Amino acid sequence: MAATEQPISYAQDIKPLFREGDRESMSAAFDLWSYDDVVQNSDAILGKLRDGTMPCDGAWPEEQVDLFQRWVDAGMPA
Ligand code: HEM
Repeated sequence: MAATEQPISYAQDIKPLFREGDRESMSAAFDLWSYDDVVQNSDAILGKLRDGTMPCDGAWPEEQVDLFQRWVDAGMPA
């Protein structure tokens, strides 16, 4: 991804970060492959990603968490 002013979108940049197993594990709470669900739960998701407790099998690398953060800051474009 380009360093500056590259728009981040859920479909292109965020959804592919969630593995099928993540989706299945979390399906009782929300659907990580649903734009609306991720928007509605973005605070909780970001909190877990930041504190490293989710995914349960290993925290995301910092740059991946930062990408999610930037997407939230950008107003969560679809
Ligand atoms: C990027 C992937 C994931 C994200 C963003 C994520 C996010 C979250 C969030 C936000 C909650 C709190 C839900 C609530 O309180 O309503 C949660 C809970 C939970 N997640 Fe995940 N999750 C991910 C992957 C996984 C995986 C791979 C597992 C497999 C074990 C898992 C198991 C659980 C369990 C058991 C809970 C309930 C207990 C707890 O809050 O710690 N999650 N997750």
